[in-house]
Amino acid sequence: MAAVKAQQQSGASLAIRARILTFDGDPRVDPAATRYIEDGMVTVRDGIVEAIGEARDLLPSLAHDLRIVDHRPHLLMPGFIDPHLHMPQTQVIASYGTELLEWLQKYTFPEESRYGDAAVADEAAAFVLSELLANGTTTAVFFCTSHPQSVNSLMAEAERRGLRIVAGKVMMDRGAPDALLDTPQRGYDETKAAIERWHGSGRLSVAISPRFAPTSTEAQLEAAGALAAEHPALPIQTHLSENLAEIAYVKELFSWAQDYLDVYERYGLVREKALFGHCIHLTEREKASLAERRASAIFCPTSNLFLGSGLYDRAGLIEAGVRTGIATDIGGGTSYSMLTTAGEGYKALALRHQKLPVLQAFHWMTAGNAQAIGLDDRIGRIAPGYEADFTLIDTGATRAMRRRLERVETLEEELFLLMTMGDDRAVVATYAAGRRVHQRGGGFLPAREAPQPVVSPSEQAGAVQQ
Ligand code: GUN
Ligand code: ZN
Repeated sequence: MAAVKAQQQSGASLAIRARILTFDGDPRVDPAATRYIEDGMVTVRDGIVEAIGEARDLLPSLAHDLRIVDHRPHLLMPGFIDPHLHMPQTQVIASYGTELLEWLQKYTFPEESRYGDAAVADEAAAFVLSELLANGTTTAVFFCTSHPQSVNSLMAEAERRGLRIVAGKVMMDRGAPDALLDTPQRGYDETKAAIERWHGSGRLSVAISPRFAPTSTEAQLEAAGALAAEHPALPIQTHLSENLAEIAYVKELFSWAQDYLDVYERYGLVREKALFGHCIHLTEREKASLAERRASAIFCPTSNLFLGSGLYDRAGLIEAGVRTGIATDIGGGTSYSMLTTAGEGYKALALRHQKLPVLQAFHWMTAGNAQAIGLDDRIGRIAPGYEADFTLIDTGATRAMRRRLERVETLEEELFLLMTMGDDRAVVATYAAGRRVHQRGGGFLPAREAPQPVVSPSEQAGAVQQ
C-alpha cells in the first residue's frame, strides 16, 4: 500500500512536443512576460518540469530514457486553476429563478444536507474531479460541506489521482437546516482534524472555510479566527459582498461593523491567501483593506450573471491594488470550463465598459490564479522546477471554431476565439504531475493505464501525432 502511494505521487517522466504557451509574469505589467513557442518541448522528470524551450534546441541532448509524446499542432498550457467552487453543488447548477439568499435556502442547503453520507460524497468527489480534468483544470479550491465526510471523500479521491487541490470543511452554525449546522466548537475541531489528516499530505492543502458571515455566529467567527492565528500559512476562503440583500442582512446581523469586510477583519480572517468569492459591491475602504492585507478578490462571472448578483469591477480592484482571481463557482456558476468562464467574464466586464485583454485572461486562469491562492511557486507556469500539470488544447475543436479559425491571423485572435467558443471539447488531454489523467473521448484514465505513444528522439521526424 505504501509503495503504491509513493509510486502514484512520484510523478512521471517524459518529453512533450507541442506549441507551448506560458506566462513568466503578468502581461498587463510586462508585455514580454508571454512565452509562446511554436515548435516547443517540455521535459518532465518525476512529475516536475526540467526544461522548456525550442524542440530543436532540446532534442539533441535529450536523455535517452525519456519518451517523447508528440502533440503537435495542439497547444500545451499550464493546467487551469479554479480558485472557487463548491464540491456538493454539481446537482444544483441550473436551479431556476432565484437570487442568492433564496437560492441557498430553496436549492443549495437541501442538496448539501445529503453530504454526510459517504456514498453520496464519494460519488460526487469522483465526478467533480473527472469533470474538472475533462475541462483542463488541474487545481481547484473547493468548499465541501459542513460534514467532515465530504472533505475526506474529496481529499482521498484527489490523493488517489495525484492532484494538487485545496479544500475546506465548511463552518456554519446558523441560518440553515439542522442537518447542515455545526457549532463553534465542532467547526473548530473538525477543521483541526482535517488539517491534521490532510494538510501537506501529497499535494493537498486545507483551507479554513467559514461559509459567509450570515451563516456563522460571532462565536464561530472567533473560532475561525483562532484557527487562522494557529495556522498562519493556511488559506482561508469565504464569500464577500455578492448580493445587495446579503449585504443588508450582514448589516442587520453585525450592527457594530462599518461594512461587510469589517466583520471578517474583526476576527483576523483578512490576510494573504484569504480568498473572498465575488467582491462585487465593495466600498473604497473595503478595496483598500483587501489590498493592504494582500487578500484576493475572486471573480465568478457565470455565477454573478446566473444569480443576477451584479457586475464585478475588475478595473477598480486592480486600481486599488487588490489581487484577483477568476473562478467557476459551481453550482451558482454554470460551467466547469475556465475557457467558458473567461469568455463570460469578458462579457460581464463589457457590461461595465471594461476590457479583458486575451493574454491577461489566459494569464489569469493560470499564473494569476496561482498567485491569488498563494501557490505561484509551484503551479500555474511551465517552467523548470514547477509541477508538470498541463492542459493540451485543440483550438479547432468544433466545426464552428474551425470555420472561425480560417480568418485568424495572430495568436491573440486564436486564443480569443478559444475563450469565446471553447469548452471541454477543446481539451485534448490533461496531465497532472506528468501523468495523463484525461484524454478527450476517453473519460478518466487512471494514469498507469493511459496509452502513451513512445517515440525515441531519432524517430522524432516521423512521430505519431495525436
Ligand atoms: N454565499 C454563501 N454560500 C454561497 C454559495 O454556496 N454560493 C454562492 N454563490 N454564494 C454563497
Ligand atoms: Zn461560492
